[in-house]
Amino acid sequence: MKNKVDHPDFWDEIYKNNSAGWDMKSPTPAFIDILKDKKLSPSGKILILGSGYGYDAVEAAKHGLEVTAVDISETAVSFSKQLAENNNVKLNFIVDDFFNLPQKYSGYFDAVYDYVTLCAINPARREEYAAMVSEILKCHGKFIALLFPVEDRPGGPPYGLNVDAVSAIFTKYLSLKITTDKINTIKPRRGREVLQIYSKQC
Ligand SMILES: C[S@@+](CC[C@H](N)C(=O)[O-])C[C@H]1O[C@@H](n2cnc3c(N)ncnc32)[C@H](O)[C@@H]1O
Repeated sequence: MKNKVDHPDFWDEIYKNNSAGWDMKSPTPAFIDILKDKKLSPSGKILILGSGYGYDAVEAAKHGLEVTAVDISETAVSFSKQLAENNNVKLNFIVDDFFNLPQKYSGYFDAVYDYVTLCAINPARREEYAAMVSEILKCHGKFIALLFPVEDRPGGPPYGLNVDAVSAIFTKYLSLKITTDKINTIKPRRGREVLQIYSKQC
């Protein structure tokens, strides 16, 4: 079933109106911890799904990763390009619907990262999303999913994420390696986030 969140204009208008209520104006604390952690940090090519203003994408580039940031909003990507320039890092930017990525990027990425993006898509497309993530990962590539908000809530976006339901969808395509709520976050999101790391088995 079609949903307003399927349309680029829905997202671009939010950025044009400066009304991105989820924006923290800084990189995500748990993602910074992952990048600093020798065991957890990915290497090589990472894709940031629904990269928004690009704080996490720029942070990953600062840690030496080869970053691609994709977002459907041209306005958001323009902002991130400027952010990358200000921070003296080079990133690849894609303005497109990430559901189109398998056409060009099959088996391409060592890691894919999601924060506040799974909860933003049409819930009816979550399985399609999981298949897309799996398709663009290399063998043994990692999917780093910082799930938020892990609660029942009416309507959306953000659409509430049930951790068991999310795991059931993604484990059709990937193998679940880590699930934990012992992660660093900002005060209003405490207890509302779960980190999951999946791996692609080939
Ligand atoms: C709630 S925002 C989160 C942004 C960013 N991840 C963050 O944490 O600040 C969701 C982002 O996903 C993007 N998005 C939504 N649907 C998309 C799609 N089908 N393809 C690419 N980007 C999409 C939106 O434009 C928006 O920037």
